Amino acid sequence: MFITLEGPEGSGKTTAVETAVNKLKEMGYEIVRTREPGGTPISEQIRNVILDKENTAMDPRTEALLYAASRRQHLVEKVWPAIKEGKIVICDRYLDSSLAYQGGARGLGVDNILNINLFATENTWPDLTLLFDIDPRLGLERIAKNSAREVNRLDLEKIDFHNKVRQTFLDLAARYPERFVIIDASQDRDKVAEDTLKAILDRLCK
Ligand code: TMP
Repeated sequence: MFITLEGPEGSGKTTAVETAVNKLKEMGYEIVRTREPGGTPISEQIRNVILDKENTAMDPRTEALLYAASRRQHLVEKVWPAIKEGKIVICDRYLDSSLAYQGGARGLGVDNILNINLFATENTWPDLTLLFDIDPRLGLERIAKNSAREVNRLDLEKIDFHNKVRQTFLDLAARYPERFVIIDASQDRDKVAEDTLKAILDRLCK
């Protein structure tokens, strides 16, 4: 089982899933928590290049290719082996982030970005994608209040960019209804965590 967590900046997806992971572990499931870009030493090095605030000269296609390269390495070293061992892999961000950020918000085209990612992933799709939907204004406000979270190069984009990210995610959820579940991330923390666990259990019991 391969589960991905998606959403605009500040959606609280990482915190929300922690409670669910603890409950699932208590129930005896073996869980591997990971994130993109990153999750392996090579992918983390690529992450640093992509998110470095100094790299303002980065071309949009270079950015898209680096995300796809990081994704490939992460699949090979971490995701595929864990799935093979029968574990549940829960990954913060995956291919839909590239479709929303590079395809939608950067304007490179969702289908162009899908093509390079089908090559990178050899058609590896998540079984379940939780979309933590939130108005980007609220999400960015949350980030500003959370001093523990470092601001990255993409956070610095204008609100219009983040609105396009959100809209593309919603379009993707409509395009792939069989794997997407939308969670209202503007609700209070406990309710978001409860909805997250329910969505995962519903899929596991299918
Ligand atoms: P995060 O770890 O805080 O989610 O930061 C990762 C940033 O990278 C976030 O701004 C979303 C962005 N991103 C893309 O633009 N494309 C991608 O394919 C992925 C995985 C992330």
